[in-house]
Amino acid sequence: MREIILGIESSCDDTSASVLIDGLLASNVIASQEVHEAYGGVVPELASRVHQQNIVPVVSEALRRAGVDKSELSAIAYTRGPGLLGSLHVGTSFAKGMAMGLQIPLIDVNHLHGHVLAHFIKETETDEVPEFPYLCLLISGGNSQLVLVKSAEEMEIIGQTIDDAAGEAFDKCAKVMGLPYPGGPHIDRLAQEGDASRFKFSKPHIPGLDYSFSGLKTSFLYTLRDNLKDDAGFIEKNKANLAASLQKTIIDILLDKLKKAIHQTGVRQVAIGGGVSANSGVRKAVEDLCRKEGVKAWIPARKFTTDNAAMVAIAGSFKYKNKEFSELGLPPFARVTV
Ligand code: KG4
Repeated sequence: MREIILGIESSCDDTSASVLIDGLLASNVIASQEVHEAYGGVVPELASRVHQQNIVPVVSEALRRAGVDKSELSAIAYTRGPGLLGSLHVGTSFAKGMAMGLQIPLIDVNHLHGHVLAHFIKETETDEVPEFPYLCLLISGGNSQLVLVKSAEEMEIIGQTIDDAAGEAFDKCAKVMGLPYPGGPHIDRLAQEGDASRFKFSKPHIPGLDYSFSGLKTSFLYTLRDNLKDDAGFIEKNKANLAASLQKTIIDILLDKLKKAIHQTGVRQVAIGGGVSANSGVRKAVEDLCRKEGVKAWIPARKFTTDNAAMVAIAGSFKYKNKEFSELGLPPFARVTV
């Protein structure tokens, strides 16, 4: 019998469903929510309402594209947390109801494990996947962590941010530049035309493998404030240079600790994951660093960097093999690390 797993993701502002058939990706449907753009950030109450509207059509479409009937499903994997509670409740309740109705196992997935294990998503039989152990630089809107991935079940956070996440640094600085939310992709695009050496922003001096991005944010704000005093058009004239200099500083901060972590752990494989791993500068810099260090780099396809249910389904498939199923009474959780 085929192993068919339905994955459901609803932790933030993307409703996604995906089907895995015998470990191969058969569909991955994502409905993004544009409603938040006008507010410059995700509005939790709106997010959960839109999830409610999207969840049934998104799951139906994922099954249709995979050519699978719901009666053929082996299990349902869903994101239990971390994320926005209201949003998580929609996916969690839907997954529970569907699993109960079909009388099939339910599998809860930690969203961060999903990002870390996204490298195991195979679209064809010949796609290569990492070997354990590997180091994962997990960089998103809510997290910046260095994770030592010993197995699909055993992950150790060896470094993490003590304040803002890398994605927040991108988004908050982009916001003060007047760019739309989320600002990361806009900074990425602008940075390609800018001079990264034009502005210098402060870098943190944090011991060990931990990160900090709040000082960079303050130094970015001071640069804008000081220059806007004399020139009201400063941001407009320097958009590309500001974006390139900001991106370069974020990359330097990320890679400094990544390099340290490679040396400390002696691990021979490095992966990146999370929304910020879609950044072209980050991708190139990690590839260059890995080449220099003689370690293998795993750079995910862009569609698997931001929130998606394929990563939930793949993380669920590891648990399915171990028969690690969850109880119907298990509540979602808002906060937790790996
Ligand atoms: O993992 P993700 O989709 O969501 C959560 O954190 O839940 O990550 C979203 C983050 C946002 O901060 C967004 O600005 C950032 O990923 N991001 C990027 C790029 N694409 C998305 N940051 C920099 N460059 C990009 N190309």
